[in-house]
Amino acid sequence: MRVLVFGGAGYIGSHAALVLLSRGHDVVVADNLSNGSFIVIERLEALSGRKPAFIRIDLRESESVTRLFQEGHFDAVLHFAALKSVGDSCSRPLEYFDNNISGTIQLLLAMQTSGCKRLVFSSSATVYGEPEHVPIDETAPLRITNPYGRSKLVMEELIGDACKADPSFTAINLRYFNPVGAHPSGLIGESPNGVPDNLMPYICQVASGQRESLSVFGDDWPTPDGTGIRDYIHVMDLAEAHAIALERIPGIHGNLALNLGTGKGTSVMELINGFERINGIRIPHRIVGRRPGDVAEAYADPTKAHNVLGWRSTRGVDEMCRDAWNWQRMNPRGYHAPSGNDPSTIENPRPSARAPIITA
Ligand code: NAD
Ligand code: WQD
Repeated sequence: MRVLVFGGAGYIGSHAALVLLSRGHDVVVADNLSNGSFIVIERLEALSGRKPAFIRIDLRESESVTRLFQEGHFDAVLHFAALKSVGDSCSRPLEYFDNNISGTIQLLLAMQTSGCKRLVFSSSATVYGEPEHVPIDETAPLRITNPYGRSKLVMEELIGDACKADPSFTAINLRYFNPVGAHPSGLIGESPNGVPDNLMPYICQVASGQRESLSVFGDDWPTPDGTGIRDYIHVMDLAEAHAIALERIPGIHGNLALNLGTGKGTSVMELINGFERINGIRIPHRIVGRRPGDVAEAYADPTKAHNVLGWRSTRGVDEMCRDAWNWQRMNPRGYHAPSGNDPSTIENPRPSARAPIITA
């Protein structure tokens, strides 16, 4: 298939693009590089032996996006392009609605005009908000708790309405739980800007000595060890699910939502202990108060994804921690140059020598 990967220079999109290239698909990456890097394109070529086409474009530029579709003759689209920080979305809700919702409207219009009618969309478990029970299946109530979540829910609804209006339009909304890890080569991975919001990149930056200590947000949750439980899923498992979703789309009608998780909950302390054990690195940490908006536990019932796609995650927490650290030590600053983000000064990946190794 000829596939447009919008947001493919970012974390999850780059891994999905790699899997598509490896499976012989023709890949075009489109990205405005607001949170992605052109380095990704070079590394995709190094890993797959095939260089994807790249176009720097903003999803909201309606004329350019329409032209891209008219000239591109795409069979399908993977839509990763969005702003994704919960905290940032509370400070800048309108920017989130503009980027994520207006961008999706432009994308759907361009798809409609060009006759491209297959879409795989990056949704999030954030649409479930505070779950009534776990595991969470796709029939659970959708009750978002922040502007980022609202943007994801509205995007799902827009896509659903587009499918209803045109029965030949098919879309799969993939609701990711907690994506972590990196390609085992250490050549592509997650490259956060500033202080990471999420647990695994924070652990990695503590491991590499960039941050002194991890704050564990509460040990008084109603969970076995008192820390929050989530469903961490290896980014390569997610990427493979996207490729399968694309390949299965011709046999699917309308719009459906699928959870992508492992179905297994892991607590914050279990993740820290797992990272320390598998990588031999101590993670200094201290317990602080709960983070506003957090929930005690959230993990997926991934049965529907298995039934529809025949997909199941195969990688465990050890592999997630090993690959996350491998990426971090080879790219201590992610894709970022020592100062600024000038691609001409990006360093080659190299191991960090600063990690405190457990000797005891
Ligand atoms: P990311 O920021 O690494 O990747 C998103 C990419 O989209 C970036 O390269 C960015 O430059 C690009 N982009 C953003 N707005 C754009 C626009 N208007 N036009 C063109 N390009 C644009 O994020 P990610 O972690 O890879 O997430 C990918 C998708 O998955 C997002 O839609 C996110 O909401 C969703 N998601 C992420 C997580 C997670 O924890 N990472 C969890 C659930 C869902
Ligand atoms: C995981 C656990 C924290 C950081 C978020 C978004 C969600 C989705 C995935 C996009 C929780 C604890 C964290 C730290 C900690 N993104 N923690 N110290 O909150 O489950 O989900 O990312 O769609 O929408 O909300 O992930 O990695 O931030 O937190 O103790 O420094 O780690 O309290 O229990 P979360 P997370």
